[in-house]
Amino acid sequence: MNLTITLFYGSVRSERQGIKAARYLENQLKERNIQVHFIDPREYPLPLLDKMYKEYEAGKAPATMEKIAGFLKASDGILIVTGEYNHSIPPALKNLLDHFQQEYFFKPSAIASYSAGHFGGVRAAVHLRVIVGELGMPAISSMLPLPGIGKLFDENLKPTNKYTHPSTQKFLDEFIWYIEAFKTQRSKGTPY
Ligand SMILES: Cc1cc2nc3c(=O)[nH]c(=O)nc-3n(C[C@H](O)[C@H](O)[C@H](O)COP(=O)(O)O)c2cc1C
Repeated sequence: MNLTITLFYGSVRSERQGIKAARYLENQLKERNIQVHFIDPREYPLPLLDKMYKEYEAGKAPATMEKIAGFLKASDGILIVTGEYNHSIPPALKNLLDHFQQEYFFKPSAIASYSAGHFGGVRAAVHLRVIVGELGMPAISSMLPLPGIGKLFDENLKPTNKYTHPSTQKFLDEFIWYIEAFKTQRSKGTPY
């Protein structure tokens, strides 16, 4: 099945570390011949939320918002790579997520989290699970916590431990199973 995934990465810090996890996951998806729309809020800057995409007349939304909406509409699933800021998700990620709504409906999401410490951002991931539920893109059961993000990948984006790669493959296998199931069911129509 031809699949397309939007990947949201949520940090705009100049010293950001999570970009390595996000690029690693993008590479893993591409190795599976999945088309990836990689949304980095630095490359796709949106203002702090004023109007949601749906509040603009057709064709009147700012170009960046229109582009992201197009990517989401064309996607079968959304992979979110979140850091942990004070036990929740980064503000740029929340801002990005809040701009859209219908574009997510009836598509599964998957949450990969990371942090500098040992817990791999799980507290942010748990918050994010509630948010994506409200947004109509329920998260798959498994999450992918990535601890010690500063040293987790080498300069070629290869994991520096033996656990990350197999955990990632298991996580992506599960995500793709859900994506295919939802896509098959979406093709028969949706309740709204
Ligand atoms: C504002 C802020 C709050 C943070 N809060 C947490 C936290 O609650 N738990 C944690 O494990 N790490 C926390 N950290 C450390 C981050 O895990 C670490 O800096 C990580 O690299 C941030 O992601 P980024 O580099 O992609 O922006 C925090 C970092 C920042 C900048």
